[in-house]
Parts: sequence; structure tokens; C-alpha cells
Amino acid sequence: MKDFKRHLVTAALPYANGPVHIGHLAGNFLPADIYSRYLRAQKKDVKFICGTDEHGVPITIRAMKEGVTPQEIVDRYHAIISESLETMGISFDIFSRTSKPIHHETSQAFFKTLYENGLFEEKETEQYFDEEKQTFLADRYITGTCPKCGNENAYGDQCEKCGSTLSPDELIHPKSTLSDSVPVKRKTKHWYLPLQNYESWLKQWIVEDHQEWKNNVYGQCKSWLDNGLQPRAMTRDSNWGVKVPLPDAEGKVLYVWFDAPIGYISATKELTPQWSDYWCKEDTQLVHFLGKDNIVFHCIIFPAMLKAHGGFVLPDNVPANEFLNIEGEKVSTSRNWAVWVDEYLKDFPDMQDALRYVLTANAPETKDNDFTWKDFQDRNNNELVSILGNFVNRALVLMHKLCNGKVPPFHADIKDEQDDALYEKIVGTKLLLQQSIEHYRFREALFTVIDLAREGNKYLQEKEPWKKAGQQEAIDNCIHMCLQLSANLAIYMNPFLPFTANKLCKLMKVVPRMLDWENGGSLKLLNTGYPLNPPELLFRKIEDEEIQIQIDKLHQNAKQKSEEPAAVSAYIQPPIKPEIQFEDFDKIDLRTGTITSAEKVAKADKLLKLTIDLGFEQRTVVSGIALHYTPEDVIGMQVTLVANLAPRKMRGIESNGMILMSEDAAGKLIFVHPQTNAANGANVK
Ligand code: MF3
Ligand code: ZN
Repeated sequence: MKDFKRHLVTAALPYANGPVHIGHLAGNFLPADIYSRYLRAQKKDVKFICGTDEHGVPITIRAMKEGVTPQEIVDRYHAIISESLETMGISFDIFSRTSKPIHHETSQAFFKTLYENGLFEEKETEQYFDEEKQTFLADRYITGTCPKCGNENAYGDQCEKCGSTLSPDELIHPKSTLSDSVPVKRKTKHWYLPLQNYESWLKQWIVEDHQEWKNNVYGQCKSWLDNGLQPRAMTRDSNWGVKVPLPDAEGKVLYVWFDAPIGYISATKELTPQWSDYWCKEDTQLVHFLGKDNIVFHCIIFPAMLKAHGGFVLPDNVPANEFLNIEGEKVSTSRNWAVWVDEYLKDFPDMQDALRYVLTANAPETKDNDFTWKDFQDRNNNELVSILGNFVNRALVLMHKLCNGKVPPFHADIKDEQDDALYEKIVGTKLLLQQSIEHYRFREALFTVIDLAREGNKYLQEKEPWKKAGQQEAIDNCIHMCLQLSANLAIYMNPFLPFTANKLCKLMKVVPRMLDWENGGSLKLLNTGYPLNPPELLFRKIEDEEIQIQIDKLHQNAKQKSEEPAAVSAYIQPPIKPEIQFEDFDKIDLRTGTITSAEKVAKADKLLKLTIDLGFEQRTVVSGIALHYTPEDVIGMQVTLVANLAPRKMRGIESNGMILMSEDAAGKLIFVHPQTNAANGANVK
């Protein structure tokens, strides 16, 4: 590896809209953790940065579905996520949140710099707007028919059936998921980063200068660049997010993919006053770990932002993983097809390393991979228990049996070829591991560790110290080698299986400092004559029943989800609108009145034409309530009317006002009545 002075390791910030699942671990957190632990063991200066991504549409959707505020959602899931990751041993130096003031300030300042340097294009475009809910619709809030495959439930950004990327304009029969109404186009202004201006620079930087990046990453970048880059909006219409730091930007926030990666910088700032050494000095190695859906943001958009801003280091590598499927099917949070980390930890307490092992062994490093519970059991039982655990346990048990519970001496005069060969394996493994880890090939690295334990078992099997009664020196040498090998295994497994490595240190009564990488390859890790603790098993077997419970649970969860009432959209409430002053409110003239006549409007199944007695005048109002009420239902009803709304023609009838309606939990429109009979024409304030 090039000699860097510092290392800045990031794992993609998980959205705080749900717990993390094992796909997040395999794709993102585990490789970043292994890499960071490895560097720390080498006494490198490393900062491992992460936190929750607390803005963006997924959060607001979740909040609306549950009828709570976005803040409640992010508080809840930040707590769950950070607890799960900490318990899994993901060794962040900081796990922050993008809702923190330091992050708002940092990302606003970043935006301002780009703005003041004239690096944005300001553009007015037409975007879908929900008139009923009075809000612009993020792409995800719009559904319609996919133009490519005909799926009627495609989203405005993607069809989940055929996988095509879409824009809302491409949807046939677009519909707002907030109100089920047909959205209209409205003008809105946003700030765009003209990515095409960075295209040739990006081509040089990635296609020419970073050919060593993983094929999946390099390939995706190249195809984006070959297709040509376009301006991309860096702001959105929303009330949840980092406010655009400009005057006249009410109701506008930074695009979540603008602010979130800046979260890496803000979290580093929060962590250390030396943050700029890590972010601004050329001898820093910046490495982003993430899943494949994040590649374009980390390889193209964020670097373009950093380049535009100037003064920041760029990633040295972006070792993105593909996806981890579960039991042959894609992970889907909407279908609840996932293995949640918090639930795993409840069912398998103190078995973090088993999961870390299996997820690393099966990591989707070059292609999508599959997690199955059966494979989890097999790898745990056949590799961790039978190879690694078994070797260490035999070494310790034999030492207690044949060497009085103390590390026996090594008699160099009777050293043989097998001893030499084993020693070479121990030293060779260290080099292999360095090669693999520094090239982000963590599966290969993990298998190298297991292979070394396998060699240990073979050595022990060939030497058969239990059959060597009377030849104490031969026994001593064999056990000595096995114990030194066990200590080396602890060092080598430590980045991957830190809980087990520490347990092994306790069994061998050595301090965790023994795990420093520089000690790897040494045969002097345990002193001769040193008494060790009684053996304890490093791993435990997983039984068939435990696995069956998990498989059943997976299917049960998905089944439950599919039986949930589909009418969830009726509960979805739009976000609170931007704040207004009393004077704004006071412009609205609200009056009570009684409906005196009602009739259906020809060829408009939603509309009723109403006459409303305001005491001083009879008003004609056209109201969109015909799907819920017949004319007979409403005659005689007292209502609240917006009395000074500009007249509007509907189906040729002039409507002079609007009746206030709310909706019940099933989405049916209901009247906002005065509590008892009010005087017709009275003010509502
Ligand atoms: N929250 C995003 C996701 O889960 C990842 C954000 S990574 C960052 O897909 F770079 F933007 F922080
Ligand atoms: Zn489709």
C-alpha cells in the first residue's frame, strides 16, 4: 500500500427510517470495520466515520405512515441502529447524526461556497404538485404505470418490477400517493450542479487514474460517464432537511444526497479539532465503503462537489459491494424480507462473531450473493466450530493434559521439517492477509485465516502428541508450536472476529496489545513456563431447531406484512407547511353557512353544486364531495366556508368559495362543522 500518513474510513450513512439488516452489515459496515481494525492493529492513524442519514424522503414517508413527526422517527431509529452496530462490534470512532447543528452548519456553508462561486445553475422547472395536500411531490410519492413493463404500481423514480430507473414524467396515469389525486404541474426553482462541467475531469480521475478500483465500481462509473452527465438539482421542495441558506428559499432544503456525504465531514469535525488534517491533506487515504446503489453518489456526485468546492482530498478507493439476498430473494423492507440485526442479537446473544464470520465469508464482493440460514449453520458448525475453535481447544486441552497447564519449552535440537513448514505457514499467512486486506478482498483474507487453522489441525493430527507417552520433548515441541499458532491466529482473526480474538487473549492470559499486527509471524508470543487459563470453547454449535425458528420467522414476517391493510395511504399525512404570520392567516375570510340546495354536476362524478345560505347572501359553491355524499345527505348541513376565495369555473359553473373538509382514518371526506348551530354568515376565527 502507498504510504499514507492518515486514513479516513467511511461507511455509508444508514437512513434512520428503520433498523439495519444484515445486508447493511455485509455490504458496508463489516468491510469498513475489518479494514479499520486492520489499520489500527498496524498502529496507523485511522478515523472510522459514520452516523445516521436523517433527511430525505424515506424518513418523511415513514413518519407520515405512522402519523408521527420525522423527528420522532429519526430519534427512534438512530438509537436502535447505533445500539445494533455497537453490539456487533463495528468500531466507529464516531457515529453521528445529520440532524446535528454542526452538520446543518457545515453543509450550508458548503452550499454557500458553491453558490457564491457561481457554480450552481438556477432553473425553474415544472414539477408534480398535489393540490389536495398542497405540496410538491417527491418522485417517490408519485405512482403510475411503468412505460417499460406496464406495472401499475411503479414509482416516480423507479419501477421495482422491471428495475428501470424512471422520472415522474415517464409514468402513465400518475397519481399522488398522498391523496390518490392526479397531480398537476407547478413551477418551482432549484439549484443545479452542472455535472457535465466535471465530466472530463472525472473521466481522467476515474477511467484513467483509478483502473485499480473494483470491476463493479469502475464499470458503473464508466457507464455513467460514457452516457454523459447532466445538471442535477441539489435542492428540493420539502420542510424536512437542511434549509437552503439563501433568502427567498422558503420551503426548500438541500437534496439529501447533497447533505448526507457532507455528513462524513461534519462527523469528523465533531470528532476532532484536527479534522482538516484528515480532509484536506494530500497524504490522507480516504476510503468509502458502501453498497452498489450508492456508487454514483460517492464516485461521481460527491467528488464533483468536493472538486467544485476545492481544498478536499478525494477518495483513494470506493470498494462498493453488490447486494446480499436472503434465501434466494432480494431483501425488501417493504415486504419485510430481511434479517434485522437487532432481532438477530436478541436471538443469538454473544454470537456476533458467528454472524460477522458468515457475512464476510459470503460477502457480495464481486456479485450478488445469497444468505441462507442453513449456510449460516453450516459455516458456523463446520468452519468456526470444527476447524478454528476445535484447533485452539485441542491445543489448550492437550497442554493442560500433557504439559501441566503451562506453555512447554521448545527444544530446538529436535525441531523437524513439519515444525519448519508450520512456521513458514504462519509467516506466509501474514503476507497473504496483508495482500488481501489492502486490496479489499476480505473473503479471501478470512479463508486464509481458516486455512491456517486447518494446517494446525493437520499438524496436530500428524504429530499425535497423545500417542507419544515417554517422549516429553516431542510432546513439548508440538504443543508449543500449537500454542504459538493459536496466538498468531488471534492476531490474524482480530479484524474479522474481534470478540473471539479477545476471548482468546483472556484464555492465554495475554493483554490485548498482543494483537498488534507487528506480532503476527512471531513464535515468541507466549512465554515458556507460563500457566494458561483452563480451556473454554470459542464457538458453539447451532442446532437445526434454532435455524428452523429463523426460517419460520422470516416467512412469518413477510406474510404478516402482506396481510397488513393496503389502505395505508389513507393515513399518510403531508408535512406541515412553511410557517406563516398571523397577517397571512387573517387574509382568509371564513364563515359559517347552511347548505340549502344540492345537485349532482353532469358528467363529473366527484362534484356537487351547492347553494349556501350565508344570511346576507346565497352562494353557489362547487364541491368535490360527490363520491362520499349524495345531495340528500348534505342539504340542511351547516358548514364552514372560505368566503373570499377568488371565483373559479368548474364544468362551466362558477364556484364562489370552498367548504372546509377533513378526512377520517379511511380517507373519507368529512365536514368541519360548527359545534352547535352558529348564525349563518358568522365569522370563523
Ligand atoms: N442513506 C443512504 C442509503 O442508505 C446512504 C447515504 S451515504 C452518504 O442509501 F454518503 F450520503 F452519506
Ligand atoms: Zn417496469
